[in-house]
Amino acid sequence: MPLIIKDEYPENLFREDGKRLDGRDVNELRPIKMEVGVIKNADGSAYLEWGNNKIFATVYGPREVHPHHLAKPDKGVLRVFYRMATFSVFDRKRPAPGRREKEISMIVADCIEPLLFLELYPGTSFEVFIEVIDADGGTRCASTTVAALALADAGIPMKSLVSALAVGKIDGKKVVDLSGIEDKAGEADFPIAITWYNEEISLLQFDGDMDLEEMNEFLDLAKNALKDVHQIQLEALKSKYIKLQEETIQTKENNDKKGDE
Ligand code: CDP
Repeated sequence: MPLIIKDEYPENLFREDGKRLDGRDVNELRPIKMEVGVIKNADGSAYLEWGNNKIFATVYGPREVHPHHLAKPDKGVLRVFYRMATFSVFDRKRPAPGRREKEISMIVADCIEPLLFLELYPGTSFEVFIEVIDADGGTRCASTTVAALALADAGIPMKSLVSALAVGKIDGKKVVDLSGIEDKAGEADFPIAITWYNEEISLLQFDGDMDLEEMNEFLDLAKNALKDVHQIQLEALKSKYIKLQEETIQTKENNDKKGDE
């Protein structure tokens, strides 16, 4: 992939061989890796690498609400904090949370809240802290995806996971999973999330140019790709328990051996 200097976008977002600049086909996701239980101090946590994005999500709760005046007598309170590290983008990002971080925190909260049974936890809070360590397009979607995984890792009852990704248009073609440069230099960016228990769309933002027919095509494209993202989330959760099972069996075998000696 050619080196992109700040604010200098390439003329074409497709190579001569018809692939995107990072070598992908139009409906191909970037490589995705997810892992849960990565931060010992949190009740639940997850780490995600999605293309060049690197994101941690941690969860605390249910626990006492701070500040107290935010507590609700009839249900738990969900608070989400999306932050980008100063070194996560090309320019130095100002350390103080800006308008964009507040907006994305709200988006992630709106995607996650329907999954939880907050009415069962009056007077408590669930806090989700998201740290974007490296950003390369689609961090709101990647953050939503990894936050859901961290909640599941915390053992918090949930109706299902939620998965999100951005589809969009570059050089007139519909593509899934926009990279940072495609997000900036493309014609349309369309982040979408699906909650799996009812298959409803819980995030739909839109920036660009498209008609209603195209929008329906984008939705189909996104739904297919999101099934793969969901599968990777489920595998990440499963592998935690497989590892735990293997460790328990190993410990038992070691103890049995010691007993025989
Ligand atoms: O990350 P997402 O696509 O959800 O949000 P965006 O506001 O559309 O940002 C697109 C990309 O621009 C981010 O993923 C970052 O790679 C980059 N960005 C940046 O370079 N500097 C910022 N202060 C914010 C975003």
